[in-house]
Amino acid sequence: MIKPDAMRNGHAGAILDQIIKAGFRVVALKQTKLTLEKAGEFYAVHKERPFYGELTQFMSSGVIIAAILEKENAVADFRTLIGATNPAQAEEGTIRKKFATSVGENAVHGSDSDENAQIEGSFFFSGLEQF
Ligand code: TYD
Repeated sequence: MIKPDAMRNGHAGAILDQIIKAGFRVVALKQTKLTLEKAGEFYAVHKERPFYGELTQFMSSGVIIAAILEKENAVADFRTLIGATNPAQAEEGTIRKKFATSVGENAVHGSDSDENAQIEGSFFFSGLEQF
């Protein structure tokens, strides 16, 4: 997912370009906007964390781009490509280092396991859109 900060700051094109050049195939892609309730559902795993309110407010504050990406070793490689959650700790050249604003507004989301990639893909897309 490309988050609202990166969309507002005009980085969507550059981020998608970097993802594609890194060898990911775009299986499905769309621009949409999450309601507060939908953002809460997406990040339900963080419900008890102190940043949950801020996170869901932010994630519903503007449009986002959701995509399903395919590659060998996609989950690990995508997390390497985006860098650490906190851009201050992200490696040079990573998407978060280049485009994120702060730990809360960190430009992109990547699934953290194959199982969650399936769940999160189905959150945004139907079978019809995945080819
Ligand atoms: P997390 O799943 O830990 O990170 P990642 O996105 O790298 O998988 O956290 C989910 C999101 O929650 C994170 O992208 C931004 C937000 N967040 C905060 O706002 N503050 C924090 O201290 C943490 C750990 C996360």
